[in-house]
Amino acid sequence: MGPTLDRVIKRTREDGLRSAVLYSAPGELQSLVRRRIRRFLRPSLTELAAMTAQGIHRSPKPMVEELLDTQIEDALLDEASVTLDKLASRVVDNQLAFPPAFQVGIGSRLVLYILAAMLRPNVVVETGVADGMSTLVLLEALKHHEHGSLTSIDVRKDVARLLSSEELEQISLYRLPPGHRRAKLRELLASPREIDLFLHDSSHSFAWQNLEYELAWHRLADGGVLVSDDVDVSYAFVFFCDKYSLTPSLLFEGTKVVGAVQKGSS
Ligand SMILES: C[S@@+](CC[C@H](N)C(=O)[O-])C[C@H]1O[C@@H](n2cnc3c(N)ncnc32)[C@H](O)[C@@H]1O
Repeated sequence: MGPTLDRVIKRTREDGLRSAVLYSAPGELQSLVRRRIRRFLRPSLTELAAMTAQGIHRSPKPMVEELLDTQIEDALLDEASVTLDKLASRVVDNQLAFPPAFQVGIGSRLVLYILAAMLRPNVVVETGVADGMSTLVLLEALKHHEHGSLTSIDVRKDVARLLSSEELEQISLYRLPPGHRRAKLRELLASPREIDLFLHDSSHSFAWQNLEYELAWHRLADGGVLVSDDVDVSYAFVFFCDKYSLTPSLLFEGTKVVGAVQKGSS
């Protein structure tokens, strides 16, 4: 890096930084700088599609079938549809603390329900609760299949309004305290039990997505699945997949892209 840096400094003095970065630095430095810059940008759909094997799916069923490399039975799809319709009918706008657009999309709900049913997870963790749509979907699937427990994490107190008091007792709900969010998240995810299913739907800043993906990936059991809403909002998911050589399955949800990877499958 020494002679490289010398060349860049010389070029910067002579032609300015932009020119030095774009034209005189060898590949290693250019990619370093581009990577830095991309922390502040969003990946395009073309870039996201290029990471996948089958492109970006428009429907949840083929997305999950690609992810788990198996067929989903019609009976499970029917069960999921009936349950999801029931949950959607619970939403009465004036009882919500968050805009309805915060809730995970219709396709993601199906993805989450099917994963929570098919993986038979012992430990499910989600970040980003808001009014609790994803929480309800995961909880319903776990209860229906009589398997696993759900830990839900947020930064606010006024979350999970869609859940009844009985349902609130069936989950472990944690708030990350201001000033100690990272430390508390680390502590929560460091529980001795490995995670079988993890959902990221909290802060979609590059730094926070990156932190959650890293922490969750290291705690994920073999065969476990990491799902992330809004993978098109920052480059964090792209870098994460690149770093661990993962081929994600992606779902286009109208205004955003949802991604998922299974540990031990790529
Ligand atoms: C998009 S909403 C979650 C929607 C929810 N999954 C659903 O389906 O209804 C984002 C939530 O993330 C929470 N949040 C923001 N920053 C966070 C952080 N650093 N850690 C955990 N939660 C965070 C917000 O308070 C909000 O409740």
